[in-house]
Amino acid sequence: MGLRFIFMLTRNDRTVEDASKQLQTALRLGVRHIGFKDIGLPIDQLKSLNQAIKAGGATSYLEVVSLDRESEIVSAKAAVEIGVDILLGGTRVDDVLPIVTGSSLQYFPFPGRISGHPSVLEGTIGEIVESAKALTARDGVHGLDLLAYRSREDVPTLIRQVCAAVSKPVYVAGSIDTPERIAVVKDAGAAGFTIGTAALDGKYPAPEKDVSSQLAAILRDVATLNRHISPFQKKNLTSAFGRFNDTWSPRIAGQINDMQIKLAKFSGEFVWHFHKSEDELFLVHKGRLLMKFRDRDEIIEEGEFIVVPHGVEHCPVALDDTCEVVMLEPSTTLNTGTTRNERTVTELGRG
Ligand code: NI
Repeated sequence: MGLRFIFMLTRNDRTVEDASKQLQTALRLGVRHIGFKDIGLPIDQLKSLNQAIKAGGATSYLEVVSLDRESEIVSAKAAVEIGVDILLGGTRVDDVLPIVTGSSLQYFPFPGRISGHPSVLEGTIGEIVESAKALTARDGVHGLDLLAYRSREDVPTLIRQVCAAVSKPVYVAGSIDTPERIAVVKDAGAAGFTIGTAALDGKYPAPEKDVSSQLAAILRDVATLNRHISPFQKKNLTSAFGRFNDTWSPRIAGQINDMQIKLAKFSGEFVWHFHKSEDELFLVHKGRLLMKFRDRDEIIEEGEFIVVPHGVEHCPVALDDTCEVVMLEPSTTLNTGTTRNERTVTELGRG
């Protein structure tokens, strides 16, 4: 699943006064997860903000940053009344769960001890992990809101250990302002992150400081991390085959889900083998390929391909000096199938 970017209409943990205007900018750019906090605007304004987020086709988030019990209860009730999709933050699960149970709202409380405003995450990694485990064990808790960058502990380790300890999604909130931090969050296994202040104050690395440029830069960086923008450029087979000479040593030229595109040069005869579960496609780019089967031979000419189903014994032979072959097969495929010998290649280069 891709990393989720949640744009918070907040600065220094308070909902900004011009939230409605910033919301329109975000919706126009295609931001699909948008939130605000329980502090900064009166509830009727938060209500219309929530309506506008949902009318724009986005998912809405309310993050509780109030520290005292009474305010947290008021905020949880407000979240249900406003009709937000996801309630982030807060620490008093025993008080909040009875309020949100029965609503369609999803609840992501803070693990660990929170203090101050803007909020700080206290405690050791071990303590925060224990808190995370206890919270996610509760029915009605859908995930966690981790204030990782507000902790004095090692942040990547903290996120990684919390994500590894729980089986529910973890969103990382607070003080994320660079693509490097977003990459850390993604690598550590989090499901999403929030950015508010950095984008509203023009602090995220982008060509301009205005909110539109800031959000566009964040969306682009997240898309790259999520591989929604292809990192690959087109490949020319003739030049790719021109870059190596060794034979029977496939190179990985690309990947499609679990399937790999491999380039190999064949010379002479290979070995008889079969693959337990992998089907293989051989497309001849140059030369002629003889595919020997136990019951027949097939000659595959340039521009032709053959699929060898799993379980079928085969032995490829280059009929000309060398034969250039494009192969398409699952990434688990070993070139010699179920047998291992001197022709087996386990570490494939890139081609
Ligand atoms: Ni094979």
